Amino acid sequence: MHEKRVSTTIKVPKGLYGVIVTQTQIAKSSVDGSLVYRGYSINELAEKASFEEVAFLIMKGHLPKKSELDEFSKALQQNREIPEPVLQLVNHLPQDSHPMDVLRTAVSSLGTLESTLSNEQKQLSIASKMPSLATLSYPHTRSNVKKADYSNYSSFFLEMLSSRKPDSFESWIFERVLMLYLEHDLNASSFTVRVVASTQADVYAAITAGVCALKGPLHGGANEDVAKVLNSLPTAEAARTFVRETLAKGLKVPGFGHRIYKKVDPRAQICKTLLKRLLNHKGLTEELYEKCVAMEEEMWNQKRLPANLDFYAAPIFMVLNIPIPLYTPIFAASRVFGWIAHYNEQLLDNKIIRPDAEYVGPQNLKYTPIEER
Ligand code: COA
Repeated sequence: MHEKRVSTTIKVPKGLYGVIVTQTQIAKSSVDGSLVYRGYSINELAEKASFEEVAFLIMKGHLPKKSELDEFSKALQQNREIPEPVLQLVNHLPQDSHPMDVLRTAVSSLGTLESTLSNEQKQLSIASKMPSLATLSYPHTRSNVKKADYSNYSSFFLEMLSSRKPDSFESWIFERVLMLYLEHDLNASSFTVRVVASTQADVYAAITAGVCALKGPLHGGANEDVAKVLNSLPTAEAARTFVRETLAKGLKVPGFGHRIYKKVDPRAQICKTLLKRLLNHKGLTEELYEKCVAMEEEMWNQKRLPANLDFYAAPIFMVLNIPIPLYTPIFAASRVFGWIAHYNEQLLDNKIIRPDAEYVGPQNLKYTPIEER
């Protein structure tokens, strides 16, 4: 028996606010300020796990055994190298292109070179290459791509991004941030990936679309805007004034607000602690931390909006000497594991995602020949 087709339509709120459109076993963010990856609290993972463990968990559905982790980590290392045609293509793009534009072009071009790989190999290839592709996306770090020789994913990535050898604590901090960026249930870019997957397009098409959706300032692009704001504010008092003036103009303050978290974004709070630890580790003053806290307090007092992950990830990247244009590409290089998990989950029980729209345009118009218009 076929499932009975329902002919009536349902109107949903703008932006699909509060609408459940699918089931997932990958992750869950909740209004109470919690986030779980495959059933594990992000707080525990961010304290105890490695990036590769969490990436495996998200992609495969369980924490890896030692042998599985070794194999996965080795595969990520062995598939890092960027094919020459992609390097050449990137070098031909305008030098002042936004790195996210370069990244989407690079991911897309990879698809033209690897069409004969199995689906599993394609997914591994994209995920392994993302740190190098992200580094390539910015002309000032482009030459770093082949230099780093760390085997650990996050140290390798951070060395390329910051153009220097990070110490082990810096790498550990960066690894936590990458883990927190790795997956976030049905955010705009993961939903985009699922829409593309639902058409049965290949994984390169889906990930390219994910990169495109991530670019916007309401999504991944916010971390770059946060850094620019923080750099422009000399003191904590100036930070409070900035918040008040921005809100008074009816503008958004980057790094605040969230569709799911209304009181607290757990990822932001973990990063807040990491930022303080990093500043102390490097013997720096807490001026940057104090500016962040001032903005966070003022936003809560004025608008009851919590700081989101981008708000506290950006200052960590600043302290790690990573150029601002690379912040959103870093997000993409981590989220790619979540995107791949969503791509696969969509195809496990697929139905093309094709909603309807209420037509509110003109009706019953009569065509007139061009010379009579
Ligand atoms: N600054 C000022 N006002 C904000 C705001 C911000 N950062 N974020 C939300 N608001 C306002 C909205 O305009 C809305 O006001 P209104 O009721 O007068 O229309 C109200 O707060 C509630 O917003 P909400 O409906 O909860 O937001 P959303 O779910 O539609 O959008 C975001 C969520 C993330 C897109 C939104 O908060 C935002 O644009 N934030 C800034 C960009 C950002 O940091 N993005 C990264 C997200 S992880």
